[in-house]
Amino acid sequence: MSMRIIGTGSALPEKYVTNNDLAELVDTSDEWIRERTGIAGRHVSTGETVAELAALACGRALADAGRRAEQVELLIVATCSPETGIPSVACQVQSSLGAVNAVAFDLNAACAGFLFALHTAWAYVQSGICRNALIVGAEVLSKLVDWTDRGTCILFGDGAGAVFAEQCDRGGILSFVQHSDGRKGEVLRCDSRALTNPYVRGVMQSPWVKMDGREVFSFAVRQVPTGITEALRQAHLKAEEVEMFVLHQANFRIIEGIARRLGLDADRFPMNLDRVGNMSSASIPVLLDELNRAGRLKEGMKMVLSGFGAGLTWGACVLNWQREC
Ligand code: COA
Repeated sequence: MSMRIIGTGSALPEKYVTNNDLAELVDTSDEWIRERTGIAGRHVSTGETVAELAALACGRALADAGRRAEQVELLIVATCSPETGIPSVACQVQSSLGAVNAVAFDLNAACAGFLFALHTAWAYVQSGICRNALIVGAEVLSKLVDWTDRGTCILFGDGAGAVFAEQCDRGGILSFVQHSDGRKGEVLRCDSRALTNPYVRGVMQSPWVKMDGREVFSFAVRQVPTGITEALRQAHLKAEEVEMFVLHQANFRIIEGIARRLGLDADRFPMNLDRVGNMSSASIPVLLDELNRAGRLKEGMKMVLSGFGAGLTWGACVLNWQREC
């Protein structure tokens, strides 16, 4: 028993912010941002919430899969930027979709969130707890970013991507690996809110994203190829046999570095970060949706999905793209 993705969807906020727009806010330039990251622009919420974007992406994934909301049995939203602590984003999405029969919950593994959610759904489906799942990565990072910090505000974008997946007898997901290393949590963090209960005299340092960019960069280039190799070994495949590597869209230099370490040409690593920036858990499913809608995902092709980010967290999945059973 395994699980295959049969529908994808995505949603992006309307407002588009270019590097030149950012150069009016902080001391930076279009040239610097493009050269160091590959990013040219990103969508930024002017009011769209994580739950709204997630619900839109889910509706599109269900339509693509030809399924109705009432058929959904599991709904997992990966996010690190929810507007509400409770109720979960997933329960809000469930309500707006009318996915009345779903079990819904959120999961936070930062930029590896979509991968961790997909792995969780796979485990549920494989064990027979449910027969299908809507898996979503959705973020409005613009509200966590310090818009005066040129080291971080240039990197991130807002958006949501979703996949609908269901059980299958063969193909689909072939292997999965997941890793976390909390000892390195300091290199990318975002405190939530000041503690104000009467027993604690504490003020959080800063509610904004703080990052040691170089540390994050070297972690990604070092660990991600190891995780991918581990997942490929489990699937009994060689990297050369994989047609497409859909990676978290953090930085084109990170992706090129990973390709080099795997001994592969970067043209097997599709990118959209130039247009949308780093959307954390939404990066992989939004790119997957773009590729699906562009007809670039061929029946039976071998693919790797890999995400990495704060925590630290990272993971990789090998799959056979197979919409037909
Ligand atoms: N515009 C212009 N200059 C900038 C800048 C910006 N937006 N951001 C930083 N700089 C400056 C720095 O202040 C520094 O100046 P200095 O030499 O005078 O001190 C110089 O550029 C080099 O900074 P550095 O941080 O060493 O640059 P870098 O080559 O490491 O690139 C990142 C910075 C953030 C682009 C890069 O480290 C990166 O992409 N890291 C990974 C981040 C990431 O992907 N995070 C999310 C993971 S999920």
